[in-house]
Amino acid sequence: MNVAGIPLKNPLILCSGVLGISSALFARLEKAGMGGIVTKSISLRPTEGYPPPTVVPVAGGVLNAMGLPNPGVDAFLEEVGEASLSIPLIISVFGTDAKEVAAMVDRVSPYCDAVELNLSCPHAGGLLAIGQNPCLVRSVVASAARAATVPVVAKLTPNVTDITEIGKAAEEGGADAVSAINTVRGMAIDIHQAYPVLSNVSGGLSGPAVKPIGMKCVWDLAGAIEIPIIGIGGISSGGDVVEYLMAGASAVELGTCLGSGGIEQVTAIRDGLDAWCSARHTTYEALSRSVRDKF
Ligand SMILES: Cc1cc2nc3c(=O)[nH]c(=O)nc-3n(C[C@H](O)[C@H](O)[C@H](O)COP(=O)(O)O)c2cc1C
Repeated sequence: MNVAGIPLKNPLILCSGVLGISSALFARLEKAGMGGIVTKSISLRPTEGYPPPTVVPVAGGVLNAMGLPNPGVDAFLEEVGEASLSIPLIISVFGTDAKEVAAMVDRVSPYCDAVELNLSCPHAGGLLAIGQNPCLVRSVVASAARAATVPVVAKLTPNVTDITEIGKAAEEGGADAVSAINTVRGMAIDIHQAYPVLSNVSGGLSGPAVKPIGMKCVWDLAGAIEIPIIGIGGISSGGDVVEYLMAGASAVELGTCLGSGGIEQVTAIRDGLDAWCSARHTTYEALSRSVRDKF
């Protein structure tokens, strides 16, 4: 299948961040049946991230505020250069402004099949400020699209009043696809220590609890933009993937379920999705938008 010029083996893609950037791990994910890989978000210079605790389990999922730790683009490309994958590699990048994002896109484009712009992390620097502002989204995406020699995916935040405004801005800026959602702002307090659980005080929620939020974002985006949508948020079964496709997604990204359930989850989800399709003599492409288009 082909989504926005990205030749996916199936609609399942590793989402950014949850499993890191090791090329050995990417090879294991491919073997388990993953259709494509998004790397952890990378910046021009190394970023240390926040001190622990940065990831804590909560009811319905996980709260994280890692601060986008990464080794910087040079060290990252050395690691990724080792990967010899037959599935698409999508490199996630972030930067503080349009110029820096364009420089990142220019640097990584030769090494990947697409780039994903992280415009949406709820707990790192000024990223949320970019992702919540349609004018900034339009200009950052436009700079990235000019610099790119591969398709550009804009990753959107659910932490806005109207995600369709942001999706339209990304489309106008020249994005080839959008992905939604990044994590949902949240926090927790350790009542015994009378202190916030995360070192950054607040962070982002992911996992099953956010699935209805991701579904609604995809549904709304599918009614507002023409470019393909990659659905993200709380997916942990083949049925969840079917739901996202029906709502308007062309592909999906998997995250928290792999952190908690292991890489074998990929095979179970792919088998569940394929069994659903073959029992109903349908395809991934035919499923996409099949409920959305009734409205
Ligand atoms: C520990 C952790 C680290 C993450 N790091 C990134 C990141 O570096 N870049 C990014 O765009 N999203 C990052 N995310 C967000 C995920 O890519 C995804 O959008 C979110 O977790 C929702 O999907 P899920 O419920 O399937 O996990 C991270 C999420 C978690 C839990």
